Parts: sequence; C-alpha cells; structure tokens
Amino acid sequence: MDQLVFDSLFLAEKIATPDLVRDVFAFRSIDSTNNFAKSLARKRAAQGVLVLADEQTHGRGRAGKAWRSPAGKGLWFSLLLHPRTHFEKLGLLSLGAGLAVAQAVEQLYHLQASVKWPNDVLLHKKKFCGILLESEFSPQRLSYLVIGFGVNVNQDQIDLPPELAQNATSIKLQAGRVVDRLALLNAILRAFETVYGQFVRGAFDAIRRQWKNRSCFSAGKISIAVHGRTFTGTFSDIDEYGRLVLRLEDGTLRVFDSGTILAF
Ligand code: BTN
Repeated sequence: MDQLVFDSLFLAEKIATPDLVRDVFAFRSIDSTNNFAKSLARKRAAQGVLVLADEQTHGRGRAGKAWRSPAGKGLWFSLLLHPRTHFEKLGLLSLGAGLAVAQAVEQLYHLQASVKWPNDVLLHKKKFCGILLESEFSPQRLSYLVIGFGVNVNQDQIDLPPELAQNATSIKLQAGRVVDRLALLNAILRAFETVYGQFVRGAFDAIRRQWKNRSCFSAGKISIAVHGRTFTGTFSDIDEYGRLVLRLEDGTLRVFDSGTILAF
C-alpha cells in the first residue's frame, strides 16, 4: 500500500532523517520541485529543506530535457543543502545521490540496482531514476545546492511513454508489486544522509568505491557523446571529482565532466 500523503505537516513527522531534513514543503502539484527549492534558496532558506510533489507539471531533467512526473506514480523531490566546502567535488556528491537510491532499492526490495554515469540508476539495464544537481556560486562561496531526485516508482508499462519503453522502467515493474513511496522516501533519505556525511567529512574514496562497485559498466566498450562528438573506449575510473575516465581506442586516457552515454 502507498502511504504517502502530500501534506507538509504529516510528512515532517514521518521523515526519518531529522538531521538531514529540517523543513518539508509538500505539494499535490507544482511546476518543478527543483524550481521551488531554488526559489527558497534565493530567499536564504537554511540547509535541509525537502520539497516533494505528487505531480510536476514542468519536471526538468539533464540537458534541458523534460522529466515526466505524473501524479501517484513516482517520487519527485529536491533537497536544498549548503555544504561549506569541497565545492569542486559536487559531481561526486551527485554520483552519491544516485548511489543512495540504488542502496535503498536494494535494501527494501532485494533488487540489484546499478548506477550509470553520470546520474542514472538502473534496474536490469533500464533507467528508473535520474538525479539533477543544480548549484549557484557567488564569487567567494556556494549560494545554493539543490539535488533533485526523480524516481519512477509505481508506473505500469502503459504509463511509460512508448519512445522510452525500451530503456525505462519503474520499481513496481521490476519488483512485481505496488511500492510504498513513504517507506522508499525514508530509505533513500537515510542512505543519502550517510553519503552526505561522507562527503562533508571528505571521505571521497568511500563514495567512489561504492559507486564503482555498483557501476553498470563492464569490461566492454562505452560510447559517449559530448559537444557533438562521439568517443568510444573502455571504463577506466571515476576520478576524485566524479568525472568519468575512459581509455580510448588509441590507448590514451580521456576525462569527461559531462556527456551522454550512448552505448555500454
Ligand atoms: C535526469 O535523469 O535527466 C534527471 C531527472 C531529475 C528529475 C527530478 S524530479 C525532482 C526534481 N525536479 C525537477 O524538475 N527535476 C528533478
């Protein structure tokens, strides 16, 4: 049974991570939880705000893509955070957010979730979750950090757009049962609280190691598109900034800080 109620007071009592989440804004429908979290940040809201919606009318994904966010089907939420240091390593924190989702799904449903650079979480090689990290810097400091989580939870096959049907899935489709979004939300927040603690303490290798243990990349070839060019190589590493390191076909190592994986 799904026990999630989109009421800020109700949720504030049910959230299991009081150190990470100090304030909750819940909506039945909103344009984008990332947009709302950013508007709070510009009004100088403190660290630890959770913004959650049942439906997003203009959910946003990476690279300006739309993110489908129908009511009753997913977890669409954003966290507003103010880490004081390690800004140059935010890419690693973004990987850590996907890692936390994979850990939570495995813990609750015993499904083997894998992570795909930079921000996807997969079940049986199909994407069910994406992360959108947005930040703004003033000259000396980080003005805000918003991490958006989009998790396909209770979609049936018919709910997934036909053009995505090959590559997208939901937890319900993989687990074979309806998923309680409240239990899943709390499991993700708990797992992310641990990752965020590691990030703040500078335990970057712990995040990298766990991410690599769950990586969907095998020894085979990977193709990546970046700025209109395609590169092919094999996985070499995730560096200390969360960038992808590939060994290209000519034997050289190349580091990518953005890009879209075309094949793996
Ligand atoms: C991607 O894979 O492209 C990232 C998708 C991120 C979607 C989430 S849903 C909650 C938050 N609000 C948004 O508008 N986007 C993120």
